[in-house]
Amino acid sequence: MTTLEKTLAAEIAQLHESRTYKQANELQAPQAPRTKMDGRPVINLSSNNYLALANHPRVVEAAKRAIDQFGLGTASVRFICGTMTCHLELERKLAQFIGCAAATTFISCWDANVGVMPTLCPTPEDAIFSDALNHASIIDAIRLSKAQRFIYKHRDLNELSQMLDSPEARKSRNRLVITDGVFSMEGDIADLPQLKELANKHDALLVVDESHATGVLGATGRGTAEHFGVLGEGTVQTSTLGKALGGACGGYVAGAKVVCDYLVQKARTQIFSNALPPAVCYGSMAAIDVLMSEGKTLLARLRENVAHFRSGTRELGLKTLDGVTPIVPVMVGETATAIAMQKALLAEGVFVSGFGFPVVPRGEARLRCQISAGHTREDLDQCLLAFRKVAEKFPESRGTQAVR
Ligand SMILES: Cc1ncc(COP(=O)(O)O)c(C=O)c1O
Repeated sequence: MTTLEKTLAAEIAQLHESRTYKQANELQAPQAPRTKMDGRPVINLSSNNYLALANHPRVVEAAKRAIDQFGLGTASVRFICGTMTCHLELERKLAQFIGCAAATTFISCWDANVGVMPTLCPTPEDAIFSDALNHASIIDAIRLSKAQRFIYKHRDLNELSQMLDSPEARKSRNRLVITDGVFSMEGDIADLPQLKELANKHDALLVVDESHATGVLGATGRGTAEHFGVLGEGTVQTSTLGKALGGACGGYVAGAKVVCDYLVQKARTQIFSNALPPAVCYGSMAAIDVLMSEGKTLLARLRENVAHFRSGTRELGLKTLDGVTPIVPVMVGETATAIAMQKALLAEGVFVSGFGFPVVPRGEARLRCQISAGHTREDLDQCLLAFRKVAEKFPESRGTQAVR
């Protein structure tokens, strides 16, 4: 073994010792609110399949037709010969759905974020302002940029305002404020109207990562801007096709034409990486069609389910973070507790993921419950029953709600 490999082996041994080694949670059936693990049926409380479209017949059928029509993939990057009709159709549909001038796609939202920050703010003369709890892809994207970094405390817009007002920031050339719309580990929502006001005041571009908001927030699922009634007010968004919109993979940037045009010219994660597989393009377009035609019913069901589950967890005295989104974190403290509770819940037929450091800050390990429109009332009641049993053995999961 090389020294490097010995170092890796020692760290892996340490993960085993601290009982924080991650095991793959193998699904033996499609991604759905009820699926199969360890040869048994389980209720899935651990998926971003918010509208239960990942295995929807219209989505699957559209993806199959795309393979028949265009084959498996592009075998090329977009600007060489990887742009097919399906990509342009998808981008037009995304722009129309979101209500903006243009959209451009990437192989993932990770790549969309890593495309945006270093491309739009490449130099030390630029400045990026980012919420401390933004997604890992945003953190890494900022690391790839040479811009000055200003990290404000989670949702602390006073601090953001002071940073934007600081002499260093005022001297900067291009300014960009980036936030998650819905925070993936907290389930809370960025105050978009206030952020927009601050960004406008300081001549900064506001970019919102809508990965957990697309298809989830707003009367018709158009995300955080619709939730706050500020749709079409000039924000740029990044988002994923890998969650509510069919759950395959793929990301996009949507917003002003000049921003999308510039990214197509310069973003390295698009220029040097293959385009989306046609099946993903047409499958995601079918997911958007389902959302546009059945969205009201799906979203009403999702919201009823969220309200039911959140009130059930409160009745059980679980230490949840308040909110209205389908992400319901149950705070348990230590990573090992989260992992042990995940196992105990699985034994009760409920799959929910436990997260600890470095996904969340140390001492803030949690079980992240995620609700889908596809869950039935019986599913959710069965989950709450399992939580009741398991929480008795783990009193640290109970108590007053954690305050941020
Ligand atoms: C807020 C946020 N942004 C970006 C991503 C990355 O999305 P993708 O899986 O499309 O790369 C995720 C995925 O977990 C996310 O939660």
